[in-house]
Amino acid sequence: MNRAVWFLVTVYVSVPVILYLFPCILGHIIFAHLLRFPFSADLGRPEDVVNHTRNFYLNPEEGISVGVWHTLPASQWEDAAGKSPEWHRETLGDGRPVIIYLHGNAGTRAMKHRVALVKILSEAGYHILSLDYRGYGDSSGEPSEAGMTRDALYLYQWVKTQNRGSLVCIWGHSLGSGVATNAAVKLQEQGSDADALILEGPFTRIGDVVITHPVAKMYTFLPGFESLLWSILETNDLVFANDQNLKVLTSPLLILHSEDDNIVPYHMGQKLHQISLQTQKEQNTDVHVEMVSYSAHLGFSHSSIYLDPNLSNVVRGFLQKLIQ
Ligand SMILES: *[C@@H]1O[C@H](CO)[C@@H](O)[C@H](O)[C@H]1NC(C)=O
Ligand SMILES: *[C@@H]1O[C@H](CO)[C@@H](O)[C@H](O)[C@H]1NC(C)=O
Repeated sequence: MNRAVWFLVTVYVSVPVILYLFPCILGHIIFAHLLRFPFSADLGRPEDVVNHTRNFYLNPEEGISVGVWHTLPASQWEDAAGKSPEWHRETLGDGRPVIIYLHGNAGTRAMKHRVALVKILSEAGYHILSLDYRGYGDSSGEPSEAGMTRDALYLYQWVKTQNRGSLVCIWGHSLGSGVATNAAVKLQEQGSDADALILEGPFTRIGDVVITHPVAKMYTFLPGFESLLWSILETNDLVFANDQNLKVLTSPLLILHSEDDNIVPYHMGQKLHQISLQTQKEQNTDVHVEMVSYSAHLGFSHSSIYLDPNLSNVVRGFLQKLIQ
């Protein structure tokens, strides 16, 4: 009995010590890129899970290759049969909006809820580019906040060289929301706002999610634990500061958040909405900022907003405002 108690106390106390000594563990927990769900998927064969989709690779920097699926608007799938990679790439210039989908942590671009969303957006008439950041899926390298942001930025800029001026929207889910706003800030710094941003289940900053995790909650009453966690996150460049980013971003924004989100609390989406409205007011822009909330009884939680039968109308309504 006595021994068991001592064992538990030791385990309990050693967690903060281990995190302090090996901060990369926290990175592994946040990125969870080694969990390559679904393990059975062959990322080189998107046709196993989604039609009219081509797999290809880009090199955002020397030695880094990232995997991307390009899903065509569903209306084009008959034309697409047997066509070359060049044909597929050229369809990006057909005037239809292009959505860059930045997924959340863990798993690959073949995960079920990701593919389900891609199918809905394809049915709605959009091109979708679904990216596995460096270190995820069959992409090389190791994930980092700066590296993942570079991958997304590179993909956006690559699309802009292919699409002959059509609208490019960056869609970030969960951890991907942090990548999305980081990339949008970089674009804005380079002098061209991102055409549109959609953030699904976004957090204020990643540390706010880490702190509210049940495991972290067991420790938050230990003096100094919270500040230790924040300092580990910051010194290891794990910030993903959506709240800070939205204080400067003047891109049109749509936030989707479910009230029963069990991973990223709903109030974080609301906070971001308020920040962005405030930014547009201060900057005196007429940029469209919108939030769509899903009632808890729908049970969409963190990853199932794609189940909303009205989702394509919501996205179409948002994007159409930008095209006119
Ligand atoms: C591809 O489209 C065909 C014809 O509509 C359909 O029968 C099939 O289930 C689709 N495959 C996938 C993986 O969605
Ligand atoms: C569906 O979305 C559109 C566009 O946002 C909205 O105007 C409409 O009220 C929604 N319909 C339902 C049933 O929620």
